[in-house]
Amino acid sequence: MNIIISNDHAGVKLKNKVKDYLESKGYNLKDFGNNDGESVDYPDIIHPLAKEISENNENKGIIMCGTGNGVSMVANKYEGVRAGLCWSKDIAELIRKHNNANVLSLPARFISTEDAIEIVKVFLETDFEEGGRHERRVNKIDK
Ligand code: RB5
Repeated sequence: MNIIISNDHAGVKLKNKVKDYLESKGYNLKDFGNNDGESVDYPDIIHPLAKEISENNENKGIIMCGTGNGVSMVANKYEGVRAGLCWSKDIAELIRKHNNANVLSLPARFISTEDAIEIVKVFLETDFEEGGRHERRVNKIDK
């Protein structure tokens, strides 16, 4: 599994903290995000990530902008991409168990670094509950 991470200018600081954590755990990382903090348009930095996730279901994405909303709206336009906006560990657990989310979206301006790292950990370590009502529902998402 590759993890692709991307962010707009609002997410640079948090992205770097999340990257440090993921690298310390040995994950394979690709960084498609903004790194200099100059203002960018979030669709421009999320389309390439969403295309890669859509084409390879083994990959997972971690995206962030100020609220986490703009980036998830872009990602969710792509077939097979299920981005969930998370601000707590409980929601991170549920977007994996119930929605089989393959992209985690973080609201960089509204959560602490510590909470973000905990959310990332839960997102990457929780499995989807296959074979029941949740799988049936997830299979109905794409048009
Ligand atoms: C940038 O100021 C902000 O609008 C962006 O990071 C994001 O929150 C959009 O959804």
